[in-house]
Amino acid sequence: DWNMPDYIEEAVQKIREQVGDEEVILGLSGGVDSSVAAALIHRAIGDQLTCVFVDHGLLRLNEGKLVMEMFAGRLHAKVVHVDATEQFMGHLKGVTDPEQKRKIIGREFVEVFQAEARKLPNARWLAQGTIYPDVIESGGAKSKKAHTIKSHHNVGGLPETLGLKLLEPLRDLFKDEVRELGVALGLPHDMVYRHPFPGPGLGVRILGEVRQDFADLLRRADAIFIDELRAADWYDKTSQAFAVFLPVKSVGVMGDGRTYEYVVALRAVQTQDFMTAHWAELPHSLLGKVSNRIINEVRGINRVVYDISGKPPATIEWE
Ligand code: XMP
Repeated sequence: DWNMPDYIEEAVQKIREQVGDEEVILGLSGGVDSSVAAALIHRAIGDQLTCVFVDHGLLRLNEGKLVMEMFAGRLHAKVVHVDATEQFMGHLKGVTDPEQKRKIIGREFVEVFQAEARKLPNARWLAQGTIYPDVIESGGAKSKKAHTIKSHHNVGGLPETLGLKLLEPLRDLFKDEVRELGVALGLPHDMVYRHPFPGPGLGVRILGEVRQDFADLLRRADAIFIDELRAADWYDKTSQAFAVFLPVKSVGVMGDGRTYEYVVALRAVQTQDFMTAHWAELPHSLLGKVSNRIINEVRGINRVVYDISGKPPATIEWE
């Protein structure tokens, strides 16, 4: 039981004492944790903070724009927006193995981030949105096992390589507390109560080889799904929901013509801890609307299917 304005005041003081007049860099991803960390640190030290936002070309529709509007626009924080799409796509060309794709995306992310960090020679601190469950997890043997099933994208090792001290102002907080803090710092509700999004992004939601044109189709299909979930008040009743691009063509009809286009799968799950999950029993009318909109609005997709697999045995992501 804690008082939020007091908590913010204390956290701000602590960050100021820790950092003094030194400079801090933070990798902004658009996710809840890094966003709240950025807002808090910015509240404490303003322009001593530089956020680096790496766009790997595998983000959701308008993500880059939203992050820039919020942090550079509304909060007036210093944000470096790096569009590294070409670099990531180049390295992913021809790669189909899911773990290989994750490794490449993780490695390139570190590359790009380090290159940006070197352009800020005065930085002494690397800020991260590590929260309490992450702290327990990296020490606990039990969850470690679960994590090796899919190698997770993280930037461990970065502070050492860059010779930076670590600043982790959310280390003592649970997810709910991080969200409350975000709202109290003035971040929009929709940003703070967002579903989780994997580090490798659409890279693991485009099955097989990652292509820019596939990513563009998937982004639009995914945005339609999320829009309709929100409109039907289902977004907050699901823990995670997204579209998956299947590089498989099937036959359809449109007007007088025959189409031969790609398939999109919709996935929506309910879960407490993401270790096990149920597929969400979305209303058929909602699924029908999403399917119609995707097929009518996203040329290149002529079939939409709904994933009714639980975890286990299926995972939440398709790769
Ligand atoms: P799975 O697919 O293993 O996903 O049931 C469980 C949760 O983890 C997320 N996930 C990832 N997050 N990097 C991440 O940062 C990854 O490589 C990754 N793979 C899965 C997934 O979105 C779900 O929330």
